[in-house]
Amino acid sequence: TARLTTRDIQNLKRRGEKIAMLTAYDYVTAGLLDQAGIEMILVGDSLGNVVLGHETTLPVTLEDMIRHAGAVHRGTRRALIVVDMPFGTASDPETALRNAVAIMQRTGCQAVKIEGGATVAPTVARLTEQGIPVVGHIGLTPQAVHQLGGYYRHGKTAPAAQKLIDAALALQDAGAFAIVLEMVVPELAGEITRLLDIPTIGIGSGPECSGQVLVVNDLIGLNVDRTPSFAKPKADVASVIRRAVGEYVAEVKAAEPAKAKGRALADG
Ligand code: KIV
Ligand code: NA
Repeated sequence: TARLTTRDIQNLKRRGEKIAMLTAYDYVTAGLLDQAGIEMILVGDSLGNVVLGHETTLPVTLEDMIRHAGAVHRGTRRALIVVDMPFGTASDPETALRNAVAIMQRTGCQAVKIEGGATVAPTVARLTEQGIPVVGHIGLTPQAVHQLGGYYRHGKTAPAAQKLIDAALALQDAGAFAIVLEMVVPELAGEITRLLDIPTIGIGSGPECSGQVLVVNDLIGLNVDRTPSFAKPKADVASVIRRAVGEYVAEVKAAEPAKAKGRALADG
């Protein structure tokens, strides 16, 4: 089966069918998501928090993203793979183009995602005119956490809502083929979804988006600490792992020493 394309994804919205997207960072997980029928996989810079144990996404580098995106691509056959452009790598159109070309050439993935509103539109236009599909990302943009001063819901006031609407339209006009809405007031996310021709992919933004994305660890319950409140885990993989490891530890410790031939069994 051929891989899904950006047009396939856009056709899902046209047909009124919701789009299912998850993050993945490695070969095995990506392969399982692909086998289970996920349509889009995001190699998110949430890699920084989820896989690398950082507080924020800011330490994630282009090389980190390329290594993990390659693994995700190698693990999949059908899903459309989107790669996050990490902090500082899309700071202007030419820088973004150079870095997006590296991602496309070295990973085999089909699209990149860039955080930011209307000011990012020229960068989106530059990439799309070079044949690189781009996903926008507005609302809570974690790369700007130090400027935002925390992780909270966006679009609560009328001016803030209007700014998000304008940003969504500017990104669509610039050629983005989809837009992630993170932690956007649900009613506003619905309004933006109806205004746009291209699909919206929501996370913590209510049910009215064209599709949904989650960090895969939050879906399967594979975290050592926090899980965001909007994520409703459908499995408890952390417990499965802890139990298996606990059994292994107990088994190793309880094992009878092997009968050494002719030699004394114990030293003391
Ligand atoms: O990095 C990420 O996982 C993301 C999604 C949460 C949208 O950008
Ligand atoms: Na991200």
